[in-house]
Amino acid sequence: MAFSPDTPRAPLVEARQLARRDAQRGQTLLAPTDFTLSAGERAVLTGPSGSGKSVFLRALALLDPLDGGEVRWHGEAVARARIVQYRRHIAYLRQRPALLDGSVEDNLRYPYTLAVYRGERFDAGRARTLFAAAGRGDDFFARAASELSGGEAQIVALVRVLQLDPEALLLDEPTASLDPESARAVESLVGDWFARASTARATVWVSHDPAQAARVGNRHLTMRAGVLDETAAASAGAVS
Ligand SMILES: Nc1ncnc2c1ncn2[C@@H]1O[C@H](COP(=O)(O)OP(=O)(O)OP(=O)(O)O)[C@@H](O)[C@H]1O
Ligand SMILES: [Mg+2]
Repeated sequence: MAFSPDTPRAPLVEARQLARRDAQRGQTLLAPTDFTLSAGERAVLTGPSGSGKSVFLRALALLDPLDGGEVRWHGEAVARARIVQYRRHIAYLRQRPALLDGSVEDNLRYPYTLAVYRGERFDAGRARTLFAAAGRGDDFFARAASELSGGEAQIVALVRVLQLDPEALLLDEPTASLDPESARAVESLVGDWFARASTARATVWVSHDPAQAARVGNRHLTMRAGVLDETAAASAGAVS
């Protein structure tokens, strides 16, 4: 059953006083930040280059050591022992995708070699369907990852995450290096994943493109010099 807008919105991920500092330069990268992401929300994060959008998203994904605060998942603080599980379900897609040497298929199969995905099996048919939705044919599987364009690499990185069906996607400028057609393909891949899930999903999508923000967001956040703000109702309405 698809998620209905009437379903109560439970907090999926909560950040409490989340903070990051650059100890060497004694500089605040992320001021203590409270943030709640609930099921069904499609948050868009904008802000100038260097303002801390990636720092915030990576902190929320528990990818970097925190200098303060905590992240809660389904109402519970994420203990150190659960971080790997958390990252499996709250998936961060890097601004610059990192692929392994080998073929596209090798890259798609890689997560299934990790302990956290024990019990899950690579589904080639599903991956092909996802690639087809992004306008890439079956021959894409055998391509060498090192020969892909930046945009193609980003599509592979996204499919690698989507095939694992996370609860939330933290998307860090996933279309920055894509041509408009591929960018729309990525938007529709994410949109399908969001709409077809059996339980409610959520996204935080960093974008510099106001038109894209309007297409992919129903909530608008801005980052300025390490300070996160919810945009006023009027502008939030403009992107919903
Ligand atoms: N691990 C780190 N240690 C020290 N400084 C860092 C670290 N990571 C990021 N920074 C600094 O924090 C600031 C914010 O960086 P961040 O990558 O979050 O910017 P951004 O808003 O994502 O910008 P862009 O739109 O260009 O991607 C920058 O000045 C960056 O140099
Ligand atoms: Mg960034």
